[in-house]
Amino acid sequence: MTDPRQGGIVILDFGSQYTQLIARRVREQQVYAEVFPCDADPVTINQHRPNGYILSGGPNSIYEPGAPQLPPHLLDTQKPILGICYGMQALTHALGGHVAASQAREYGPARIEQSVPNPLLADLDSVLQVWMSHGDRIETPPPGFESLAHSANSPFAALGDVERGLYGIQFHPEVTHTPQGSEILRNFVFNICACEPTWSTASFIDDAVGRIQQQVGPERVLLGLSGGVDSAVAAALLNKAIGSQLTAIFVNTGMLRKDEPQDVAKTFRDGQGMILVSVDATEQFLSELAGVTDPERKRRIIGKQFIDVFAEEARNLEGVKFLAQGTIYPDVIESAASSNQSKVIKSHHNVGGLPPDLHFELVEPIRDLFKDEVRKVGTALGLPDHIVWRQPFPGPGLAVRCLGEVTWERLEVLREADAIFREELEKVDMLRNGTAQSFAVLLPVKSVGVMGDNRTYEEVVALRAVTTDDFMTADWARLDYELLARVSNRIVNEVRGINRVTYDITSKPPGTIEWE
Ligand code: XMP
Repeated sequence: MTDPRQGGIVILDFGSQYTQLIARRVREQQVYAEVFPCDADPVTINQHRPNGYILSGGPNSIYEPGAPQLPPHLLDTQKPILGICYGMQALTHALGGHVAASQAREYGPARIEQSVPNPLLADLDSVLQVWMSHGDRIETPPPGFESLAHSANSPFAALGDVERGLYGIQFHPEVTHTPQGSEILRNFVFNICACEPTWSTASFIDDAVGRIQQQVGPERVLLGLSGGVDSAVAAALLNKAIGSQLTAIFVNTGMLRKDEPQDVAKTFRDGQGMILVSVDATEQFLSELAGVTDPERKRRIIGKQFIDVFAEEARNLEGVKFLAQGTIYPDVIESAASSNQSKVIKSHHNVGGLPPDLHFELVEPIRDLFKDEVRKVGTALGLPDHIVWRQPFPGPGLAVRCLGEVTWERLEVLREADAIFREELEKVDMLRNGTAQSFAVLLPVKSVGVMGDNRTYEEVVALRAVTTDDFMTADWARLDYELLARVSNRIVNEVRGINRVTYDITSKPPGTIEWE
């Protein structure tokens, strides 16, 4: 069986905010793409024998002191290279062309016109709408290069040495504002690099199963199941590969959402036939949290408790050699960019921080996948939609949504209100489409109300729903008033202890998504 990662594309990151997007666009063509820092060593870069390289954009100016340069070993491979924006300038500079600071920064939509027929822009319109974002521009191309397209602002909006398979483009083909950007990348990947479309969900699963079996042999593997998408898909993949050699541990912290522990048992034990150790540690967590109101203290207590409970369960299992984690590709890229370390321990439910007597080798079966690919693999492995499309949920769980003291009674009130909100969103398909994260928060505030003939004095729930792509910035979701009215009515009528519902209309920044 051939490795579907072989013969793909390597993307070298020069600091663009779009680098991961380039990789995803290439993978959409069923060709494997990997991202490395631009100064990564050649052995690492070439481990899967790529057919070509893409150089990302970046914030620098090529003549600036310390500006990243084209690594010379790339040219030695004689494989095709496509430089995007700063990548184009790095390529031009390295090959003896001249880059000049432009008078005006060009940012936003632009039109380019093809100068000569060429393989990069083949079968596309002669005039193309593209997205520009650059300061410098090419003044003189390197020897052997010619203009492939020009714009009002630049005679070299695209250039290339067709003979050597070296290309540069001033604009960003990876963003949706370049409508034919995918076709340009497609031309590069298939016509210029001669890649094969071998990267698919089925080929990934086949290959990953083989690699897991090879790594693990007859040994036992332990996995911490959080109920989140990544650990769920890692679990299903391991289960397919090694079945009864896998033991999953699920810790009920008491901070989970309504019906979650039962749902995890149903999905993994009944649905997937997995060996699942389910531990109810609710009382332990609650007693440690008694009287605590500070958010960071809540987080520390829950993190420590989680490790303690998990470690105790792990010690009860005999002869486990491996610990599996649902590390995914963005975690790998981010940690490589920041510290050059090759193995990543997820901070979420950080079982990587286990005590030293528990020493495991790591298995990370989905570390090559982007989130959308993780979801496709999960579906192909038979996981239900509500697991595969689950919204992110913080490690400390409802503890950071139960403002003030965390008690069992207050958690139950919050769980009910949260379940109603999510149920109403689900009915109009807004959990999966329309909101990226949506939940209820219980406030440490009482307010006066009236029900029937009686005055009430009860707690307040805030509803939070946001839209976002990356969770770094977010906007509050413009939910329909009728929907909000239904949710509010139901919560006040059905949840004892709540007499007022508010909707959070703060974006991030300045707010955060969670309230604590
Ligand atoms: P904020 O509230 O910082 O959240 O805008 C951004 C994303 O991170 C999640 N989040 C956490 N996840 N442990 C986690 O595993 C945490 O302590 C934690 N705090 C926030 C939050 O739900 C959102 O998706």
